[in-house]
Amino acid sequence: MKLQELCNQANNCNQCPLNESRTHTVFGEGPENAKIMLIGEAPGRNEDETGRPFIGSSGKLLSELIQDAGMDRSQIYITSIVKCRPENNRKPRKAEYSTCIRLFLKKQIEIINPDIIGLLGNSAIYALIGESNIKKIHGQTYQVDGRKYMALFHPAAALYSRKLLPQLKEDMLKLKKNIDHN
Ligand code: URA
Repeated sequence: MKLQELCNQANNCNQCPLNESRTHTVFGEGPENAKIMLIGEAPGRNEDETGRPFIGSSGKLLSELIQDAGMDRSQIYITSIVKCRPENNRKPRKAEYSTCIRLFLKKQIEIINPDIIGLLGNSAIYALIGESNIKKIHGQTYQVDGRKYMALFHPAAALYSRKLLPQLKEDMLKLKKNIDHN
């Protein structure tokens, strides 16, 4: 299956309640052969309005962090654990993200087959690798079901708490080193 076909399915998905309030699904963006995938929590208002991932304030910071680490955002595949915006930006519920991961994210990962997957924030980290202590585990890599993951702070957390920014910058560099050494 191609990403476009999967994207069409996501656009028509009604398998969880989030479909009822969405304006657009936010499937993900980036090359089908990207070496790095970044996975966030959920679309926010700007993303819901446009159908594009990470284009609000945390997206702007994410683009800067990618660039500062010597990469180009256009080389990276960017998505989230749910493709539809939860109302009032609440956290996605387990039933929502489990369904969305099974129907879409796992298949995106299979198709793209990245060298490393950066998990942005607690929700993505917990949903994909079952870890919950981000302060302790950020910057570490995990091998789960034959896939390599790295835990990173969510850029929104660094906007809220500026002292996380240097750590996020450092982790983004570590993420890049994982592809440099392949
Ligand atoms: N935050 C996320 O986790 N994902 C987006 O797409 C936008 C903001």
